[in-house]
Amino acid sequence: MPHPPSTLNAIQQAALSRGIELDRLPVHLATIMDGNGRWATRRGLDRLLGHQEGYRTLRGVLLDASELGIRYLTVYAFSVENWRRPEHEVRGLMKLIETAARNELRLMHQNNVRVRVAGRIDEVPAGLRQALDHGVQTTAANTGITFTLAVNYGGRAEIVDAVRAIVREGTPAEAIDEETIHAHLYNPDIPDPDLLVRTAGEMRWSNFLLWQGAYSELVVTEATWPEFGTEHLLDAVAEFQRRTRKFGGLS
Ligand code: FPP
Repeated sequence: MPHPPSTLNAIQQAALSRGIELDRLPVHLATIMDGNGRWATRRGLDRLLGHQEGYRTLRGVLLDASELGIRYLTVYAFSVENWRRPEHEVRGLMKLIETAARNELRLMHQNNVRVRVAGRIDEVPAGLRQALDHGVQTTAANTGITFTLAVNYGGRAEIVDAVRAIVREGTPAEAIDEETIHAHLYNPDIPDPDLLVRTAGEMRWSNFLLWQGAYSELVVTEATWPEFGTEHLLDAVAEFQRRTRKFGGLS
């Protein structure tokens, strides 16, 4: 159903005015928030200040996505490979994600955001794990946008964890199909991402949502994550709507 223009909020109006169809938005947007380090280094700043700016961007993108009408937002906050970074950066990132999870919870809850996590959460520091668990539990019944934080996440690790769970349940090999794997992923109730946005120019998938992203449309921006704003989000959605999705069939 087309929305009567008077009931639209500011970002929906902006989307309409650039030809975006509000009834054909990506249901699930996933983002690889790349380029925080480069953004900081180019300015002679510590890389952690880039992540701090990245946090500011993320607040804006969550709000924009929610107001636009996107139902699911998943962000790659810390990968299983990120432990290889210098200890100062790893510790700083863990602390930043924990602080964000604690400080933003009230606002997210007020805005009806449902928080989820994806990843090997049992391996992250206890303070972060508790903050994430508390966020997920507090917002579990909310009905607005579902915001998933991928923390200590790897696409291959997720598939390994699913296979381990299936084997532990004693499922016979012949009974395993794609549905079985899907049902054992971290969040099987969340639909596959329609649109995967990666910032900062790299044309890589980087082990993010490997199973779920099989048919996602990929948009890569030159802008780094700290530079990514409403205009970039709308550009990515417009680009998504120009694509023809075939899922291996014919259009
Ligand atoms: C990649 O940029 C970014 C990360 C590894 C971390 C993403 C984290 C944030 C955006 C911080 C806020 C997150 C939350 C959940 C509050 P990079 O450091 O690899 O950039 P580079 O490629 O330029 O070095």
